[in-house]
Amino acid sequence: MDDISIKHQPDETSGAALINSPALANTRKVYVKTYGCQMNVYDSQRMADSLAAEGYSPTDTADDADLVLINTCHIREKASEKLYSALGRLRKMKDARAKEGRELTVGVAGCVAQAEGDEITRRAPVVDLVVGPQTYHRLPQALARVAKGERVVETEYAIEDKFEHLPSPGKEQTRSRGVTAFLTVQEGCDKFCTFCVVPYTRGSEVSRPVAQILKEAEKLADAGVRELTLLGQNVNAWHGEGPDGREWGLGELLYRLAEIPGIARLRYITSHPRDMDDALINAHRDLDMLMPYLHLPVQAGSDRILKAMNRKHTGDDYLRLIERIRNARSDIALSGDFIVGFPGETDEDFEATLQLVRDVTYAAAYSFKYSPRPGTPGADLPDHIDEAVKDERLQRLQALLSEQQYAFQRSLVNKSFDVLIEKAGRVPGQMVGRSPWLQPVIIDVHGGRIGDIINVRIIDTGTNSLIGVREMV
Ligand code: 5AD
Ligand code: SF4
Repeated sequence: MDDISIKHQPDETSGAALINSPALANTRKVYVKTYGCQMNVYDSQRMADSLAAEGYSPTDTADDADLVLINTCHIREKASEKLYSALGRLRKMKDARAKEGRELTVGVAGCVAQAEGDEITRRAPVVDLVVGPQTYHRLPQALARVAKGERVVETEYAIEDKFEHLPSPGKEQTRSRGVTAFLTVQEGCDKFCTFCVVPYTRGSEVSRPVAQILKEAEKLADAGVRELTLLGQNVNAWHGEGPDGREWGLGELLYRLAEIPGIARLRYITSHPRDMDDALINAHRDLDMLMPYLHLPVQAGSDRILKAMNRKHTGDDYLRLIERIRNARSDIALSGDFIVGFPGETDEDFEATLQLVRDVTYAAAYSFKYSPRPGTPGADLPDHIDEAVKDERLQRLQALLSEQQYAFQRSLVNKSFDVLIEKAGRVPGQMVGRSPWLQPVIIDVHGGRIGDIINVRIIDTGTNSLIGVREMV
């Protein structure tokens, strides 16, 4: 549940996911505070959608909400401390409201809810409701039970398919969320990297069926979405039976999604190197609309550490894979995740990580200090690394990654490429879009509208964004 305290961290969306569906004619309001990855942002939106059907309209502050849901993330440290301090603030708010005769319902969702269950209601009596990531579709019923005075903890892995039961976004809700959308195609993970809680909190890997994904994608396209980002903890492990009766992987699915009218850009996140199969690499070669940007975490460069992490690949396997991907699509930019200070990591091991980064050259990257997660095998390993050593290694790695990120951005100056316009900028007349490589691009547009894809020439770079002008051809 890190906020943006660590620099390289794009999978983390700190702060609130603003659930901006239009106000419905009702009196109840829900505020969803989202921590963690895009998967949680997607889940928060789905929760808001199922609550919209119950008459709740979204708000972006707890102050005017009747229901506050905290969607938690457990991937790195201090998740529960942060949750309990947020709950402390909500307790004060609830007490103050009680004096005015106004109610406040508090719910905890997400991976911390899954991991801690009843412990949360025990430690924080302010909480009325605890729901794990597999049970969001039961939220309306759970709230009905809360209204009758019950305390509800729902963290069982549901046998039924949560996606089947969650409403997909209505047209209005989608429209107000803009021209880009996430679509979860896969959840959970069977890889069991020894540092990671995901296989325990999100459960084993489940792929959504093709028909369900296509239906949702078509609905999104219909409502004006132009860019789809497929989500999954192990998104490229997605598989399913295609309409042709053959077993499809993510590659085949992308070819099919590319046919949907209105969809102009496709992305997917997050992938494991072991699941980059030929069909997926060929999709990068064949589909212009599959954006040339790939987030492919490697975590470390030393084979000894990769083995201890149970990554099931070596540094060399990864480098050879990158070479194949670059041969298929020469303009592809890479991003990755790294962990420094895994138990037993020597200076030499860490040097191997730096060397791998130099060999690959990343356009963006996210790096973290190893944080032992209770219940994972890594936590029980000997030779944990001192915090000071972790700090020092993280700083060195981030300096190198920042240098590469900056160099990549500078390499785009004077280049022209397509930008999808997502919103108006701060200054009147200015619009903000995204490059194929995911950087925000600030443009002085002449006649461009949200949802347009226009050719932009980059004239300068900001810290994390590009500045461009519309190319008049
Ligand atoms: N400690 C530090 N970083 C971690 N990640 C996952 N688990 C841990 C952990 N225990 C990082 C990995 C992963 C990203 C989402 O979070 O780099 O790819
Ligand atoms: Fe965690 Fe590894 Fe699965 Fe990624 S592949 S979710 S790091 S166990």
